[in-house]
Amino acid sequence: MPVPGPGYSITVRVEAPASSTAAGDLTTAVGRVGGVLTAFDVVESHPESIVVDISANALSENHAQDITQTLDSLPGVRVRKVSDRTFLIHLGGKIEVSPKVALRNRDDLSRAYTPGVARVCQAIAANPEDARRLTIKRNTVAVLTDGSAVLGLGNIGPAAALPVMEGKAALFKKFADVDAWPVCLDTQDTEEIIMIAKALAPVYAGINLEDIAAPRCFEIEKRLREQLDIPVFHDDQHGTAIVVVAALRNALRVVGKNIEDCKIVVSGVGAAGSAIIRLLLRKNPGDIVAADIDGIVHSARGNLDDNLTWIAGHTNKEQQAGTLHEALVGADVFIGVSAPNLFGAEQVATMKSDAVVFALANPDPEIDPLEAQKHAAVVATGRSDFPNQINNVLAFPGVFRGLLDAQAHHIDDSMLLAAADAIADVVDNGKLNASFIVPSVFDNAVAPAVAEAVKKAAKAAKAAQS
Ligand SMILES: NC(=O)c1ccc[n+]([C@@H]2O[C@H](COP(=O)([O-])OP(=O)(O)OC[C@H]3O[C@@H](n4cnc5c(N)ncnc54)[C@H](O)[C@@H]3O)[C@@H](O)[C@H]2O)c1
Repeated sequence: MPVPGPGYSITVRVEAPASSTAAGDLTTAVGRVGGVLTAFDVVESHPESIVVDISANALSENHAQDITQTLDSLPGVRVRKVSDRTFLIHLGGKIEVSPKVALRNRDDLSRAYTPGVARVCQAIAANPEDARRLTIKRNTVAVLTDGSAVLGLGNIGPAAALPVMEGKAALFKKFADVDAWPVCLDTQDTEEIIMIAKALAPVYAGINLEDIAAPRCFEIEKRLREQLDIPVFHDDQHGTAIVVVAALRNALRVVGKNIEDCKIVVSGVGAAGSAIIRLLLRKNPGDIVAADIDGIVHSARGNLDDNLTWIAGHTNKEQQAGTLHEALVGADVFIGVSAPNLFGAEQVATMKSDAVVFALANPDPEIDPLEAQKHAAVVATGRSDFPNQINNVLAFPGVFRGLLDAQAHHIDDSMLLAAADAIADVVDNGKLNASFIVPSVFDNAVAPAVAEAVKKAAKAAKAAQS
């Protein structure tokens, strides 16, 4: 049951009579139509009238309109204007560039810019590795998208993707002091994206691919990893996989099972599902059975692309065929990154006892978590209004902090697994229970712990190569 939240938050400026009941009438009216009042500020006061800013959370745009109309229909009340607070925080964008050096006089200018800067340029020309010491490259990451798979909105293009990429850059800064910059490309051609990313790479110490549709995202990441000497990380794949592996480790601690004994069903074999399966395989699970829109993935199924062929060859030990519902029978764990409302409590009842259900399709999960709870011991979703939110924010800031601090040239599974363990470890035995298998995204311990673990793994990988 959705509740009014800050995603649909409005401030309504109203003019009302200066009577003793005015405030009560206005706040009661908001509550009567289901709005949640968050602030009441008198901005003007006159002998006969007051002007008030009423802030409230709503369920949807239509609900926000209901609240406004209800206020406007009160006797003597007039709505002057309505501000959507979500749009307000986007005005002019969410990030900016600011200089780190003082530019107060000619002296400063001569060192930060010409003529002094020329000697720094020459030093880098002579020794390109110095770019990490003497430029923004040291701490800068490109958040690169083609706008083809943005949130649950689909292919909305590069300009419409920008608010998400700005938000991502803001999160990088807030949680890990990484300077990330949106790079939204006006092309969805795989070869062009690769060519442009390579041409842009000198400025960046890492590339975070974002919201690029499968299967194109697999090829782009693979080729860029082969051709660039900076880490390339598709967050929709690996950020999700890291947090899922962390959450599963803790969920299995709660129910007292070993992953080596578990049958894990993964619904959805796109960007997120494929990466989850590949990382989970490193944990040596009893078995993984993958299913997508065409049912269980097995080698004899027709029309398998390269990705599904690999998945079929590395999962499903008994090469089971059939539907998702059939896959669930006898499973210990369900992980969904696919589509809403695919099954109900009756299918969870067919899983093993102490079942674990991660229903992560956004915004509506594969099963209503309240239904899942009827038979499952641990339930997680991607939503912030339920316990156990699987959220990539737990992973990507610390992952890149660690990669940058290690001056890593590549990223591999050892670093992803180190990040997963670090997230899981933040939830110690004193905190762990069925409603708390992952830390809060606002837990300040998470990003430093992830960064330290990734840095260590990256340095170990570097040492092993040299
Ligand atoms: N942290 C999180 O909670 C998190 C992270 C990543 C993705 N997701 C969610 O997971 C879903 C998939 O994301 P993605 O980026 O991998 O998408 P994708 O388009 O790359 O893959 C979608 C997959 O789901 C399958 N699918 C679609 N409809 C289905 C159905 N009716 N039955 C079974 N399978 C079906 C497709 O065949 C495909 O394998 C989205 O809802 C996304 O929001 C959540």
